[in-house]
Amino acid sequence: MLNKIKDLATTLAPRLIEIRRHIHSHPELSGQEYQTAAYVADVLSSCGLHVREAIGQTGVVGELKGMNNHHQWLAIRTDMDALPITECTNLDFASRNTGIMHACGHDVHTTVGLGTAMVLSELRESLPGNIRFLFQPAEEIAQGASWMIRDGVLQDVQAILGVHVYPTIPGGVIGIRHGVLTAAADDLELVIIGESGHGARPHEAIDAIWIASQVITNLQQAISRTHNPLRPVVLTIGKISGGQAPNVIANQVKMWGTVRSLHPDTHKTLPGWIENIVANICSTYGAKYELNYRQGVPSVQNDPALTQLVESVALAAWGSDRVQTLSEPSLGAEDFSVYLQHVPGMMFRLGVAHKDQPNYPLHHPQFEIDESAIVTCVVTLAYAAYKYWHNCHSSH
Ligand code: NI
Repeated sequence: MLNKIKDLATTLAPRLIEIRRHIHSHPELSGQEYQTAAYVADVLSSCGLHVREAIGQTGVVGELKGMNNHHQWLAIRTDMDALPITECTNLDFASRNTGIMHACGHDVHTTVGLGTAMVLSELRESLPGNIRFLFQPAEEIAQGASWMIRDGVLQDVQAILGVHVYPTIPGGVIGIRHGVLTAAADDLELVIIGESGHGARPHEAIDAIWIASQVITNLQQAISRTHNPLRPVVLTIGKISGGQAPNVIANQVKMWGTVRSLHPDTHKTLPGWIENIVANICSTYGAKYELNYRQGVPSVQNDPALTQLVESVALAAWGSDRVQTLSEPSLGAEDFSVYLQHVPGMMFRLGVAHKDQPNYPLHHPQFEIDESAIVTCVVTLAYAAYKYWHNCHSSH
């Protein structure tokens, strides 16, 4: 089966590169993936999949029935949205939509999703289970997964696979992370409310700037003293504003920040913990506060059995030279984690670094990939999907 998959994917390579370049040159922002979705739906229909459009607003679902009669599905998830960045690559297939760019590789994800559907649809006769392809919108604003789930895409799904390109891993190398892959990301907005007064008479006022500085300092110190250091938390206040004049005590300070964490228990307790510190400091000095804490997406926790499956598939397909075990998670966020609140899943990384060209980070206006990695990814996903069902049946 592996050789059949490799042959099909290799034959499809020129077509896949054409698809990727088409999507790359027509990027669309989160929640506005209309043309991309229509294009995806066309390709899926042409391989005989059952296609549903406008799922999760601008998402697409393609279903491939295997040779069985059960109702369970394996989901393969990719994302389709681009970023509000002006592309500076000079590629002849660079973005034609000014100010919008596929700088996070979601053009590649969409392509490998389509490629996997093309390959597996050719092998339908020997496919031992059902595959549901999810092409979600709005990953960059961490909304698309929730929209898709609300529209029922996880119904009868028993596991989900996903992939993200990575520009620090060599092109065509598969990166496997056991356990946690990405961080939970929360936002906070905090207003400290004091009382204005003369800068020379602080005892008659409540100095919101000084209290804000106490809050920031205490939060940073308390993280190191009250949290398990093996369960990291990063709190960054990235924006702060307050005050009117050098000799006037400020009556209000507003600040905005991001809070990243890796452990699910820590993620749950963070809002209460932060509010407690803010409330105590404010009440000590007579200030009031308004805290708006928004819990964002949770961390991606890879399922052990599925991680082992993808790792063994990648090793069988590419050998140990082209499989990298990742020793560290990332403190970036990924809304694939929202699916994992409902079903076990696994996201791997696809190396896309060029050997002989400069490589730029994700979200950079010059981000570009080694396109040979596309076939590697299609083979890995297609073979993992096949093996998933093959193993399920042989263990019954
Ligand atoms: Ni991304």
